[in-house]
Amino acid sequence: MNTPPCAPAAAPGYYRRHIFFCLNERSNGENCCARHHAQAGFERCKAQVAAAGLAGAGQVRVNKAGCLDRCAGGPVAVVYPEGIWYSYVDAADIDDIVEAHLKNGQVVERLRMPAEIGR
Ligand code: FES
Repeated sequence: MNTPPCAPAAAPGYYRRHIFFCLNERSNGENCCARHHAQAGFERCKAQVAAAGLAGAGQVRVNKAGCLDRCAGGPVAVVYPEGIWYSYVDAADIDDIVEAHLKNGQVVERLRMPAEIGR
């Protein structure tokens, strides 16, 4: 279930929304987003944003990130300016984030990461 549209940012930025995907990979056996198909989620999001005509200045930017220090919720992504954190599982989850949040400003409540999740 989605919530009402997010409040607009106080001041316009170069992008209307910016989503960062943790793609961190650890070689020491510790948990990391790369082990939970983060690259596939990132690539799906980039493709869906482009296909929807949302990419570019004044619209949406999809970026890679290193560890965001919330590994226990991985794979994770965060959307600004709202600062909404998501844990996603598959392509359908990414599609919901693109359509509801990145396109229409509605938070995808079912994918929100609980506030207490950390590393
Ligand atoms: S490895 Fe992804 S948040 Fe830490």
